[in-house]
This record gives sequence, structure tokens and C-alpha cells, in this order.
Amino acid sequence: MVAQSRPSSKVASVSVPDGIRPPAALLPLYEVPDACGGLYDEVADCPSCVLAKTRSRTVPGSGPATCDLMFIGEAPGQREDELGLPFVGRSGQFLDELLASIGRARIDVYVTNVVKCRPPANRDPNPDEISACADFLERQIAIVEPRVIATLGRFSMAKWFPGERISQIHGRAVQRDGRWVVPMYHPAAALRDGSLRAVMKQDFAQIPGLLSGVSS
Ligand code: URA
Repeated sequence: MVAQSRPSSKVASVSVPDGIRPPAALLPLYEVPDACGGLYDEVADCPSCVLAKTRSRTVPGSGPATCDLMFIGEAPGQREDELGLPFVGRSGQFLDELLASIGRARIDVYVTNVVKCRPPANRDPNPDEISACADFLERQIAIVEPRVIATLGRFSMAKWFPGERISQIHGRAVQRDGRWVVPMYHPAAALRDGSLRAVMKQDFAQIPGLLSGVSS
């Protein structure tokens, strides 16, 4: 089993939404590390793109402030917009299953998205929205300092692998700025096409080796 990072100090600065009762298993994800609190507050007040007009809640991220493993998805969906947490719908359930397959749990990894607010009707985020959020993502990477970043889907992949196709490069880790970046399919793709479940499991299986410095 890979060594797991634990948050050193936490405050409950992202609150459970009024009138909504999240499953008990998600409650620990509302605990925000001190190092992320200021950034999450900025995200909560962000007026920088049109998504600010339609969001219910911002979805800055979840997980420990310093952590060896970071996942970056696309944008919050309906459930994430309701709860203010990333990957808490069906894609999140599959992400949890993938994490369990490598001996990890959600509470021990950092999870965020390229865009912190839900695009209406779950449309793709547009370039303006991605640029409006880009600085938040950079700052999250600088705070968390992950050893491995796994991109989930094409929008986060495009940050490190512009112009590439996920079908060609999924699971091929590269070193960028002293860390491994490994492009992965988005869990939702595996929910649509069941044959990708095994592909994603295989891609995930190399994460422990990347974390321990032994890559195949
Ligand atoms: N899909 C994403 O890319 N991010 C989420 O948080 C949920 C679904």
C-alpha cells in the first residue's frame, strides 16, 4: 500500500448547504485545510465568468492541503453544484471504486476541476470559463504539491497535452515540472462505454508505482 498523506490542520470552512442532507460518508470532504481556506473563499466570491450567474454553489475542491496525488476533472455537474463538492455523483462513485482498486480513499487524495462552477445543463466549459479559473487551479497545484497529477477527461488533459487524443495517450505518464502527469479517461466515459472500466482500472494501477518512483 502506498503511503497516504493526511491533512495536518483543518477547519470546517466550507459548510454543508442549508436544506440539504449530504450522505454521511461525504461529510469529511467538507473539512477544508487551513492552506486552502482563503482560496476557497475567493472562489466562492468569484464573479469572473458567466457561470457565476447560474451556479448554486462553487465547487473549489476537496482533500488534504498537501497530498501526493491530485485528480483534475472538467467541471461540476448537478449534484456537485448542489453539494459544493467535486465528483459526488455517479462519476464520483466510479472514481471511488478506482481509488479503492489502488488502496486509496477520497479523503486522502486531492480532487478538483478545471472549472469550479457548473456549466448550465452540463455543457462543456468554454475557453473563457477555463481561463477565468486557470489561476485557481495553478494555485491549488502550488499548495498541494502533488507527486502525481491524474487528469480526468479532455479539458484537464489539454492543459498538459494540447492537441493530443485521449484514446492515444491515456495512461502514459510524463514528467512535467518535477511531477508525473498522467492522462486518464473521464469516469463518465466509462459509465457510457463499459469497456473503458477495465482500461481505467489498468491506467490507475500504475499510480502506486509513479508515487513510489518506480514507473513501468
Ligand atoms: N465531472 C467532473 O468533471 N467533475 C465533477 O466534479 C463531477 C463530474
